[in-house]
Parts: sequence; structure tokens; C-alpha cells
Amino acid sequence: MVPRSRVSVLGPLVAAVLIATTLGASAATPAGAVIAPAFSRPLVIPRVLTGSNITLTAKLADVQILPGTKTRMWTYNGMFPGPTIRRPTGQTTTVTLINNLPAAAGELTLHNHGNHSTAQNDGQPDDFLAAPNGGSVTYTYTGTEAGANERGAFQWYHDHRMDVTGRNVWMGLAGMYIIDDPADPRTLPKGEFDVPLLVADRSFDANNQLAYRFNAAGVTGNRILVNSVPQPYFNVGDRKYRFRILNASNSRSYDFALSNGQSFIQIGTESGLLPAPVRRSHILIGPAERVDVVIDFARRLGKRIVLQNLAADGSLRQVMQFRVTRDLTDTSSIPATLRPLPALDATSAVTRTFEFGRNRFSGAWTINDQVFDPNRIDASPRLGDTETWIFTNKSGSNHIVHLHDVDQQLVSRNGVAAKPYERMKESWSLGIGETIVLKLKFTDNPGKFVFHCHILEHEDAAMMAQFEVVP
Ligand code: C2O
Ligand code: CU
Ligand code: CU
Repeated sequence: MVPRSRVSVLGPLVAAVLIATTLGASAATPAGAVIAPAFSRPLVIPRVLTGSNITLTAKLADVQILPGTKTRMWTYNGMFPGPTIRRPTGQTTTVTLINNLPAAAGELTLHNHGNHSTAQNDGQPDDFLAAPNGGSVTYTYTGTEAGANERGAFQWYHDHRMDVTGRNVWMGLAGMYIIDDPADPRTLPKGEFDVPLLVADRSFDANNQLAYRFNAAGVTGNRILVNSVPQPYFNVGDRKYRFRILNASNSRSYDFALSNGQSFIQIGTESGLLPAPVRRSHILIGPAERVDVVIDFARRLGKRIVLQNLAADGSLRQVMQFRVTRDLTDTSSIPATLRPLPALDATSAVTRTFEFGRNRFSGAWTINDQVFDPNRIDASPRLGDTETWIFTNKSGSNHIVHLHDVDQQLVSRNGVAAKPYERMKESWSLGIGETIVLKLKFTDNPGKFVFHCHILEHEDAAMMAQFEVVP
């Protein structure tokens, strides 16, 4: 299709009006919705798909989230979250997206966030789209990177349509994607003790329906859902569990901690396992960031431990509850070393600087003073080169820097060497006044890729740019 050029940032506003009409959403009165007491419903684990050819059909479905009336959502395969895709590294996977949503939802595009996809398979915001009324796109993921298997990682997939990603994700178009890697230590908790958690906030109207109103500052909800269940409880045994925690919220950050003062043992980021485990008393993650942690419930039989969000008060502080109800023998262990980081070239071919800012006059979110234009290329790195990319934040608000295509290694944050838990990632919090220095190597894939703020309303308001890897 011919990419349309962006003339304004009004798209999301039009979309918000559209959705309010389409869904018949009344003025949101969240207080009218029925509130179940915290920790009254069990955690649900989304269904797992492991086949090499997967179909995700985007369609309306009524999902039981709150007590009483179901919530009409935009789902993949009728579920929210969508099915968890779980694949061995090194093997080709195809995912076919079929767009069976009402035409008012418009075209869709599916991004496998964190994957090393070719440009054509990356879920471009304004190209290779699945048209309404049954249009489809098949994405092929090779499971390889730089001549080897892709590293094991906890990824996720979500809609990425230009101007309306926030709306589409809020309505339910998101799911988890795990790459299993035999090169990762085999003694880590596995099977039922390896639990993915998609954490997202939503607000509901008096009829239990989602209401989305675009706000360029970012949209937050007043309920926390874990795998779609509001504040669930989860029965665990007195042993180690691996939790892969994804912040799939549009704009909310969480500062996770355990109510009994116990530490997490962080073993990974969105880019796979850390070089070595790191103990952390609390973990702050913004939208799209993931942490892979082990919680050891040994010697806690009979205890109830709450996963808290120290960044908020009241019910927003209570994310979920672990009930240690089972007496089990722990056969898992966490090795002292996990996975070394991939080596990057010592020297960078190019250093680029990107300032996340805000236009003083229009209020628009900007990268290097510009809003996204799909017809503009903002950087042209050469295939095979290692570069240094510096991001600064002069905007007066927090942002999440996310780069497609390849993982990045952190050289420094505010002039200080990278903390052991954030040496390699692909989504980075960039607080007010902060500077991060990243190194990245452009392997395998020529073509265009976007990078953007992952606060979805900032992204939809065009805080996005594009690089083209050239041979
Ligand atoms: Cu999850 Cu371009 O994003
Ligand atoms: Cu991405
Ligand atoms: Cu932002």
C-alpha cells in the first residue's frame, strides 16, 4: 500500500471518538462497575501454542473480567491475553494474522516485540497491513540471529498500527511469546513452575465495558489485571518459581516488591538471561519492559505474600497474592552464572544522538524535534556495523525508549556504568533529564525499522522515528 504521510497528530483523537461510538461506551463511571474483593479469584494461565504455523484471528469476544457482564474486547483467537506462543529457538515459525474485527477498527499489524524479525515481518506501523473484512498477513520468524540461534527470551506480540496502537492494545490485542533455548541453564524452574504474567491496567464503565479515551499524556486504568484477572491469587508450593513479568500497560509503570520483604532473584530482562543472577528488593518497570525473576517460597508454607506495586496506593498497590499451600520438593536451582552477553565490536562506526522532547509551542512529543513521518528516514546504519546511540530526555516527562530489530547493550546511564540488571535490553526507561548510552550491532536485516516511546499514547502522538539498515 502507499504509506500515507502524516499531516497532524489528530489521528488518535479521531480514533478515540470512533471507538466511543463503535462500542457504545457511555461516559466512564468506573465506580459503577462491580468490584470483587482483592485476591478473590485464581490466576489464569493463557493457553499455550507451540506449533510452527500459528494463526491469530483478531475478533470481538466477550471476556469475563469483572463479576457480572462480560467485557467485549478485541482479541486474538477470542482470548485476552492472546494465546502464549512458545517456540524452540532456531526453528522457523509462521504467524498468520487474520483481521476479523469490525471494519471500524481499521487495518491491523502484528509486531513480535523483542524478536529479531526482518523488516517485512516486523509488524510495520503503516505497511504490510491486514485489511478489515478478513485481510491477512503471514509473518515468518526464523529463530536465528547473527548466524546462530536467537537467544532464549520472553517476548510479546501486540498490534502496532500507526496512530491507534494504544487503543488497539487497550482493547485487548496483546499476548506473550516465549523463545526456549537449550543453551540456557536447564536447572531453572520449568513446566508449571515457569509462569508468565502479563500485567496491565484497565478502566471499565458501569456496564463492565472498556472505554478508551485518547490522552496524549498516556492512558492509565484504575484496575490492575494479571493475565486478565483483577488482583488474582495463585496457589504455589514451597519451592522456587520462575515468573516472567511483562508490563503490557499502555503507560503505567510498576515498582514491584514482595509484601514480606523478601527479594526477587532477577535472572533475565527482555533480552534473555543475565550474565549472573541479581538480588533485588524492588523492581521498577515501565511499559513493554519485562523481568524474569525467581521467587523462592521455601520455608513459607502457609504464608500469603502479596506482589505489590510501590508506585501506587490503595487497590493499585495490590497486584496479586501468592498463597503457599503445597508442600513440594524443589529440584530446581539457579546457577551462579547464567549467560554471557554477546560480544560487540569494541569501537563504534557511528555515534548518534536522539533527544526525546516536547515542542514548546504545539506540545507534541518529539524525537530530535520531529514527529513521526513514515516517509522520512532518521538514521541509516550500515549492516554489520556496531553503533553508539545516545538518548536524552529534555521533555519534562518520563519515556520508554524501544528499538526494534536488535537488542542493545547499555554503556552508561547518566554517566554511570550500567547496573548488572540492565546491561542488555530493548526497552529502556528514560526518566526526566536522563541520558542513556547504548551500543547495538545491526545484524542480518537490511530495511526499515521503527524506534519510539513505548508509552503507547506518546507513540500514537508520533513520538516515533525510523532507521533504515543499508547493505
Ligand atoms: Cu512493543 Cu514498536 O513495540
Ligand atoms: Cu518492538
Ligand atoms: Cu514517552
